[in-house]
Order: sequence, then C-alpha cells, then structure tokens
Amino acid sequence: MNQGKRVGIVGAGNVGATVAYSLAMLGSCHEIILRDNKIDVAKGKALDMSQAASAVRSHTVVSVAESMEQLTDCDVVVVTAGSPRLPGMSRDDLLMINAKITKEVIQGIAKYSPNAIVIMVSNPLDAMTYVALKESGFDRSRVLGMAGILDSSRMASFIQEKLGYGGGQIRASVMGGHGDDMVPLPRYSTVAGVPLSDVLTDEEIDEIVDRTRHGGAEIVGYLKTGSAYYAPAKSTAIMVEAILKDTKQIHPCAVYLDGEYGFSDVVSGVPVMIGANGAEKIIEVTLDDKEKAMFAKSCASVQTLIDTLNENNFFEEA
Ligand code: LAC
Repeated sequence: MNQGKRVGIVGAGNVGATVAYSLAMLGSCHEIILRDNKIDVAKGKALDMSQAASAVRSHTVVSVAESMEQLTDCDVVVVTAGSPRLPGMSRDDLLMINAKITKEVIQGIAKYSPNAIVIMVSNPLDAMTYVALKESGFDRSRVLGMAGILDSSRMASFIQEKLGYGGGQIRASVMGGHGDDMVPLPRYSTVAGVPLSDVLTDEEIDEIVDRTRHGGAEIVGYLKTGSAYYAPAKSTAIMVEAILKDTKQIHPCAVYLDGEYGFSDVVSGVPVMIGANGAEKIIEVTLDDKEKAMFAKSCASVQTLIDTLNENNFFEEA
C-alpha cells in the first residue's frame, strides 16, 4: 500500500468531498487533507469520512487544513475550488471568477506542497489547467486536468443505455476540451472490442455524441443548484490512484500541448500515460480529417478563453 502518501483537496464541496470519500474507501493514501473556506463544514466532513474509513477498515485519515499554509508536502493536490455551474450557465461563464480563485490556490500549492502533482477539476476546466500551469511554474507533466475520463464514462453510459447491453465492456473515447466542442470519437469506441458502427446506426451514434457533449448540462438541468459530482469525483479519484500507484495506464486527461497534435501553448484533452511523475507521456492518436477539424475547433474554444485572460492582463497581475 501507499503508506505515507498525502493527498490535498482544495474545495470540500460536492466534488471535492466525494473525491475524498472515494479515496478514503479505497485506502489509496495515508492522509487526505481537505481545505475549504467553510472550515467547520470541512471539519464535519473530515470526521464523518474518517469514521467511514474506520468502518471499512481503511487506514486513511481525513483531516482539515485551516489555511493553505497547512496544506504541506502533499504528493497530489486536487483543486475543485470555484463557483459551480448553475442552470443556463456555460462552463465558460465561470472564467474570470474561477481563474482568480485558481491563481490564489495554485500559488499556495507551489509554496507549501512544491513537489505535488496538481489535478485541476474547476471549470472552465482546460483554461483553469492552463492557469494552474502558468501560476505554479511546475513542469507540464505535473499539472493535469480531469475531464476526459468523465466525458468518456458519460459516452459509455449513453452507449449502454442505447444498446441495452454491454455494460462494463464499453470503451468510449472522448478527446478535446471539456466544453460543448469536445470531441467524442465513435471510431475509437467499442463494446467488448466490437466497433460501435457494427451495433448502432449512424443516427444513434450521432445522438450519443450530442448527448455526451451536453452531458454536464443535462445533469445541471435536473439538479438546478449545482452540477454533477459522483462521476466527476470518481474520474478524479481514478487519476489520483494512477499517480499514487504508478500504474502507467492511459487515461484521457487535459494537458498542456507543446507541439502534440500540431498545437502549442494551449490545454486540451488527449490520451495520457499516468504514473508517479504525473503525465509521463502524451499519446498521439491518428485522427482523420473530420476528427482533426473537431479537435482544432475545440482547441480554438479553449484558446479564446486564454486570450480573454491575456486581454485582462490576468497573468501579469501581482
Ligand atoms: C460537468 C461539469 C461539472 O461536466 O463540467 O458535469
């Protein structure tokens, strides 16, 4: 087991707390430290989760950092802090407010957990991953964004619903940014190795693609006061585990591109081999012209957000 490993979670709302709960139940690490401005709420959740960990005989202890200064020497820090989406809001509407929060949090992480690998979860996800990279000064292998696992899981679940069989055997692939321009890839999606096009019609596949693109909004529409958290949290916990256990498995994640897929100085979702050092390798999948065009459109959407940050001198402010 990974005795001695510490995972920090900034933002102990629905997503952050559920990440902590998943990790505590798995006994993935020795300590989970929650950091939230609502200190008493974080303390209550930490106690509750430590007790749940005892119930399943997990050794994980959940504690609270009352300030960023107490979030020291973490191996991994998950950042979920920020305003969530409300009905009618796109992820992009959260840009300026969450960029400011991310900047402050990341500066604290760089200072007090300088060797941590950062997993960004706050929206708009790809732009926040870019902010985290720039503000931390960390190597790009140490700053990842969670979205591809979530979007692929949503697509897999929609495929299962449409087929009525194949649950647990579906591998769906989604690349690109975590926005309405994300790039679901039916061509690289299979059911027990069977290509999707052999079991579904083009029309059915199009419906699944469209529903995947709007999968987050569908849930916001029901919840009304916030966004999804079980699947986002589980997807994040999978990334944390891959790092702590040095699995070297491939997961779709948001990373800073430096020439891969023909793009530079932008963040997008691509298959990444994850290990103890974070994003250890970026895999370049062969895309056809249509897929390339969709990927380019998605990168352009993320670039627009980065441009907005630059126009507001975001990266120059003290
Ligand atoms: C979602 C939001 C949180 O996809 O981005 O559920």
